[in-house]
Amino acid sequence: DKGNHRHFMAKEIYEQPETVSHTLAHYLDLAGETVKLREELPFDFAKLSRLTITACGTAFYAGLVAKYWFERYARLPVDVDVASEFRYREPPLPDNGLTLVISQSGETADTLAALRYAAKEGQHIAALVNVQESTIARESHVIFPTLCGPEIAVASTKATTAQLSILASLAIAAGQARGVLSPSDAHALVRALIELPRNISEMLRFEGRVEEISRNLSRAKDVLYLGRGQLYPIALEGALKLKEISYIHAEGYAAGELKHGPIALVNEEMPVIVVAPSDELMEKTLSNMYEVAARGGKIILITDAEGKAEAGGGIDDIIEMPRVHPFVAPILAAVPVQLLAYHTAVFMGTDVDQPRNLAKSVTVE
Ligand code: M6R
Repeated sequence: DKGNHRHFMAKEIYEQPETVSHTLAHYLDLAGETVKLREELPFDFAKLSRLTITACGTAFYAGLVAKYWFERYARLPVDVDVASEFRYREPPLPDNGLTLVISQSGETADTLAALRYAAKEGQHIAALVNVQESTIARESHVIFPTLCGPEIAVASTKATTAQLSILASLAIAAGQARGVLSPSDAHALVRALIELPRNISEMLRFEGRVEEISRNLSRAKDVLYLGRGQLYPIALEGALKLKEISYIHAEGYAAGELKHGPIALVNEEMPVIVVAPSDELMEKTLSNMYEVAARGGKIILITDAEGKAEAGGGIDDIIEMPRVHPFVAPILAAVPVQLLAYHTAVFMGTDVDQPRNLAKSVTVE
């Protein structure tokens, strides 16, 4: 049932304030403003030597964001790889390592094979899954359920923000266990998570603006997405979403890589979407944005009020996010890139929920 929405994807985008809040309620003690895991952990975060994250598609991008969090807030070394590479590479895995697999469906063939390889190598296995009766859930030592309800649209939206919310909670738990985060540091991060559902609701109020911008985007043949630091995976995610449902060619790049190749593509025809809410790296990303503007590139900037002020008057298309703690900015920034892809696809007239050549669950390798 799509409710009042034209597509399941729109419904699922709109459910996010509620689904993120529901998921967080399972992982946080809201009153105490702390992380409280109900799952019994078969490992100790304090003693882990390394975290290996493996997944496919959007779930892989959620894992990439988590790498920034676990490294920064828990000083835990993290490797992230797509499952189809990981499984055949057969990497050496350390004693007392944790392998975390992320999968909405819990049935993705490559992710399952990666899990089995890691288990054979003696790793602790944890899985973030939405389908709790899935094969991946059954074969893991501990599962962290995403609790966002069934996701019907092929393009993942609410499962992604639920995955990110859990990964953020786990990074805080790890940071405390490893003595990196003080109780007050942890409180501040948890508070940012608690405010997130309200921030997402506020973000959704900018839909009209995103729709206007999408009208122009639907005329593009190629689109570049740029982000830096923990926003880099969101640039990748934005490009994947757009490709999947609008069939417009899009690439995500780390903003700092621009001058190492992709800037050669920039001309008046190619929109460049810059994901840069305010954080300590924003200025660097904005300077990459000016390099694009100087070459006649058409810019769509996703930022907050502070970023807007910093960017000055020359940028026509700005999608304004509510100002949040930089820690949770990637979760919030996932929403405008979903909306951009969605509205662009609607303008293109594609089959948004069932894009050509794609399946919801990829059970063949
Ligand atoms: O069910 P999974 O999370 O394991 O699926 C992984 C990918 O196939 C999935 O995220 C895919 O990239 C989506 N269609 C993205 O929107």
